[in-house]
Amino acid sequence: MTDTLTTERTIHPARNVLGTLRLPGDKSISHRYALLAGLAEGVSRFQNFSTGADCASSLACVGQLGAKVTHSGDTVEVEGKAGRLTPPGSVLDCGNSGSTMRMLAGLLAPQEGAFTLEGDASLNRRPMERVRKPLLEMGANITLLDGHAPVQIQGAKLRGIAYTTPVPSAQVKTALLFAGLQAEGTTTVNEAVRTRDHGELALRAFGAEIRRSGDSVSVTGGQKLRGLEATVPGDMSSAAFFLCAAALFPESSLLFDQLGMNPTRATLLDVLTVLGAKVHVLNLEEKHGELIGSVQLSAPAQGLGTIDISGALTAQLIDELPVLAAIAPYTRGGIRIRDARELRVKESDRIALVATNLRAMGATVEEFEDGLDVPGGQRLHGGVVDSDGDHRIAMAFAVAALRADGDTLVVGADAAAVSFPEFYSLLEQVAER
Ligand code: S3P
Repeated sequence: MTDTLTTERTIHPARNVLGTLRLPGDKSISHRYALLAGLAEGVSRFQNFSTGADCASSLACVGQLGAKVTHSGDTVEVEGKAGRLTPPGSVLDCGNSGSTMRMLAGLLAPQEGAFTLEGDASLNRRPMERVRKPLLEMGANITLLDGHAPVQIQGAKLRGIAYTTPVPSAQVKTALLFAGLQAEGTTTVNEAVRTRDHGELALRAFGAEIRRSGDSVSVTGGQKLRGLEATVPGDMSSAAFFLCAAALFPESSLLFDQLGMNPTRATLLDVLTVLGAKVHVLNLEEKHGELIGSVQLSAPAQGLGTIDISGALTAQLIDELPVLAAIAPYTRGGIRIRDARELRVKESDRIALVATNLRAMGATVEEFEDGLDVPGGQRLHGGVVDSDGDHRIAMAFAVAALRADGDTLVVGADAAAVSFPEFYSLLEQVAER
């Protein structure tokens, strides 16, 4: 539906990264708040809602489903549909957003009427069977085209199931909880690897009872949601680009305040610490179940060390792996990533694209089916890199470009707006030249 953006941007090398930033709201939380606000009874009001195009897709879909969505200043207001969404009679455009498509599938499967979900060319290539399969077990009526969008839903009565996710996915877990909230009986999702828990926390914030026991999370159907007033914490996955950038410069110092510090999202801070960065967390508080705090980072004088990322660590860092791989040549010992096959079915094939772009900047890198080996101690030159329309690839290589010799041209740079439209202006703010 929407086309890949092709705008180019030149990134000049930097001498240092310095400053204080407050970031727009977390993308994962914003999606969940938008979708649940549409279903809830009453008015929800959100401050610091994500400014990315992805969350705008979720809000637009909720609007198409009959909720009244208004923006005034920094506030997004959603007047919910009290449990009963209206079939829109036209396609629900999920844009580039896998979260919107998968979570909406769960939200709509138990509703009355027919719904069709589509996305842009990238989203229409991404796997949807992972959400269809468990929803079918619950009694849903969903068809796909060869495992992909369009997702066609004919609303049906659902019953609770117990389901173990074969691939760690917070989107699938959340979709099942959203469906389970409207199903008969109890729905339990068991995950071998703990994924981000914003879905569970958001459901609780809207008034639902959610039970966690060990690796399982359960919801019983028939519960009503009420509108929520909340400030969305700053997005840790957006902060990741700046944290990694700052970690490259021995004199750097970067402070974030009001940053989302949910432990299922903050693993990057541990990784940067292992790599030798000094990370301080201050002023932690909890709001609507989500931890928020300030983070201060400065880089080690001797440069970053080395780390192997695999297993559960890979799943916890899934959105941060492109930028970690992009800075890996500048570490002393390199970074090895495994068990990351999922990266091949994100907004792009992130393993292939990271390898291609690193090579375009003169790096040596070895690609594996499920990961990458990026040796350390390398010097990169500026080059032409291509985001292929993938926001995280565009931002990862803008960061790599800061330490290269010479300028780097990022093709498809504006893809960053999918999650983080302010990225380049904030980068200019903190990069010292
Ligand atoms: C997300 C979950 C992850 C992540 C994505 C956002 C979420 O995807 O990569 O950017 O908000 O639940 P998967 O569920 O496919 O792992």
